[in-house]
Amino acid sequence: MRPLIVIGNWKMNGNLASNADWIKTVARGMESGMPADRQYVVCPPHPYLAQCAQLIKEHSLAFLSLGAQDASAQSSGAYTGEASASMLKELGCRYVILGHSERRQLHHEVDEVVAAKALQVLDNGMTPVICVGETADERNSGRAEEVVCGQITKQVAVLQDRLVDCLIAYEPVWAIGTGKVASAQVAQDMHRHIRLQLAEFDEDVASHVGILYGGSVKPDNAVELFAMPDIDGGLVGGVSLNPNDFLAICQA
Ligand code: 13P
Repeated sequence: MRPLIVIGNWKMNGNLASNADWIKTVARGMESGMPADRQYVVCPPHPYLAQCAQLIKEHSLAFLSLGAQDASAQSSGAYTGEASASMLKELGCRYVILGHSERRQLHHEVDEVVAAKALQVLDNGMTPVICVGETADERNSGRAEEVVCGQITKQVAVLQDRLVDCLIAYEPVWAIGTGKVASAQVAQDMHRHIRLQLAEFDEDVASHVGILYGGSVKPDNAVELFAMPDIDGGLVGGVSLNPNDFLAICQA
C-alpha cells in the first residue's frame, strides 16, 4: 500500500517571521494527531531550511518532514550558487524536488541533469521528487502522454531500479499557478499511463512508486484528486503558503 504524501512547495516565498508563524500554526493543527498512513513535507527556500529544521524540532513536529526545492548534480566544487545533496541532508532534508517546470523553463534544466541530481539525492539517503508534465501547447496538440513518457523514459534510463526510492510528481505546466486544475479524471489518466509505462520496465517499481499530482491543488479539489487509485498525494504550491489551507489538504 502506497502512503499518501502531501508536499508543500513554498517556491521563492517566506521570511523568518512568516516561516515561524507557519510552523507554529501547522504544529497546533497537527497536535491532536494526523492519519498515520500519510506523510507531510514542507519545502522552504534553501536559506530557510536550517530555521525550519530547528522550528520543526522545537515544536516536536513528528508528522512533518523537511524537503528542499532543488539540489546540485555535483557533489562539491566550484559551482557558485549551488547546494549539494549532502549539504541538504546535513540540514535535515528528507526529500528534494527536482526538475520542477519552473527550473526546466527558467534554468533550462533537461532530463539528463534532473536524473544526475536524483542520483546525488539518492546517494545521500533522501527521496527525489521528480517532476514531469506537459505544456498547454503540448496537450492541445495531443502530445501530452508522449511528452510525459519521454521525460519518464530518460529517468528510467539513468535511475533504473533505484526509481523505486523516488517519487514522481505529475505537474501539468498549464495547471501550475493558474487556478486551472486538471480534472481528477485527466490527472488519474496520466498517472495510470505513467504507472503502466513504469510496469513495462519493472512491475515492482511501478506498484511501489508514489505518483503525486501538482497544479492548483486546493482544499476543495484535494479530496477528489486523492481518491483516485493512481494519485498518491499532492505537490502543492501557492496554497501551501497558507498553513490552514495546507492542513486542510493534509486532512483531505
Ligand atoms: P500551484 O499549486 O501554485 O499551482 O503550484 C504547483 C507547483 O508548482 C508545486 O510544485
